[in-house]
Amino acid sequence: MTKTVAILNGPNLNLLGTREPEIYGSETLSDIQQLCAQKADALGLSVVFKQSNIEGELVTWIQEAKDNAVGIIINAAAYTHTSVAILDALNTCDCRIIEVHLSNIHQRESFRHKSYVSRAADGMICGLGSIGYTLALDAIAARLTRGD
Ligand code: DQA
Repeated sequence: MTKTVAILNGPNLNLLGTREPEIYGSETLSDIQQLCAQKADALGLSVVFKQSNIEGELVTWIQEAKDNAVGIIINAAAYTHTSVAILDALNTCDCRIIEVHLSNIHQRESFRHKSYVSRAADGMICGLGSIGYTLALDAIAARLTRGD
């Protein structure tokens, strides 16, 4: 059976392409979804790719991934910096967790420097745009192969 990675995206990421392109680039979320599908295919993984503006929906999807996925790639967007609920949900998961941000959050406003998600993530990739998502898939595949 193909191993599934859940790729979860938080608020306002549905607006990628037109949202502050000088920060987030011109690719749309659907472009990123396509990149992830291609990369997952090459790695022999399948992906579930979702976006929500609603915190509780992201919590529910993390709970689902806990039972069905070998890894979670999460860009919780603004909830990264505020959501104890998302952190608590991630803390229930045994699978690999990689946090991704399109922008380099450490070069930006100080309120973006704190990440609740980082407390639960195995690793974090930021500042590389959509490449961060495919690198995160590579990382999960490599860790699966190595058994860690
Ligand atoms: C973001 C960074 C967050 O600070 C911001 O709220 C976002 C997107 C990123 O991908 O760079 O919505 O997660």
